[in-house]
Amino acid sequence: MIRSALMTVMTSAAVKAGRGLKRDYGEVENLQVSLKGPSDFVTAADRKAERVVHDELAKARPGYSFLMEESGAETGTDTTHRWLVDPLDGTTNFLHGVPVFAISIALEREGQIVAGVVYNPITDDMFVAEKGQGAWLNNRRLRVAARTDLSEALIGTGVPHLGKASQHPKFKVELSSVMARVHNIRRFGAASLDLCFVAAGRLDAYWERGLAPWDVAAGIIMVREAGGYITDADGGGDMLDKGSVCAGNETMHRRLLGLINKT
Ligand code: IPD
Ligand code: CA
Ligand code: CA
Ligand code: CA
Repeated sequence: MIRSALMTVMTSAAVKAGRGLKRDYGEVENLQVSLKGPSDFVTAADRKAERVVHDELAKARPGYSFLMEESGAETGTDTTHRWLVDPLDGTTNFLHGVPVFAISIALEREGQIVAGVVYNPITDDMFVAEKGQGAWLNNRRLRVAARTDLSEALIGTGVPHLGKASQHPKFKVELSSVMARVHNIRRFGAASLDLCFVAAGRLDAYWERGLAPWDVAAGIIMVREAGGYITDADGGGDMLDKGSVCAGNETMHRRLLGLINKT
């Protein structure tokens, strides 16, 4: 496990916000829920957790900039450092009582992601990665799966919610092309965890479009530090700008990229 001062800052913020999320999860029926767009839900729990993460990080590293899902961008006095924060990745799962959600925090230095933390407060799974220090789940070092045969592969993806499907006209074509070749497909519902599952070798590969920078920033370094390959869904390096990812070991990444770009 990485025990740097930076990791302590990031994991402490995630644990503190996680305590609140766990409490709110137990009383989800009393939570205030609102819509940001068609079928795009946000709860008081998302906003509270974001405040906690923001305040903890700002206290430990004054002046760093932020990009957060619920409150947007905050330019600090230090623009070479930026936190990317998704306070509750997997809101739909949270609302439905499915214990698959996480707090995702990444740190960018001069445009490069240098550290990431993804924490599921229900399972107490803490995924951490720091540049050059490997990726870890609690005290266990992570490594992407070694499998290379598509017919044996378990592949993760994301399905656009109601009102978002029209923005992803290619998805159905991609899905049927992947389904025709792989062992099976999973949709867990939290992009940050999907990427951690690739890092941990639980998923052989994963692709998704229509994502935001805070969904994937921490997961990107997790996959890389676990020896995996990650690009945008077109094979380039613009994951944050394009909001798409394709990840796996070198061979699986190349094979999945080939399948989704066949048409
Ligand atoms: C969502 C989750 C989901 C992905 C969506 C995201 P949220 O994030 O990561 O897996 O398919 O595109 O918006 O809104 O629950 O933080
Ligand atoms: Ca959201
Ligand atoms: Ca998210
Ligand atoms: Ca979120």
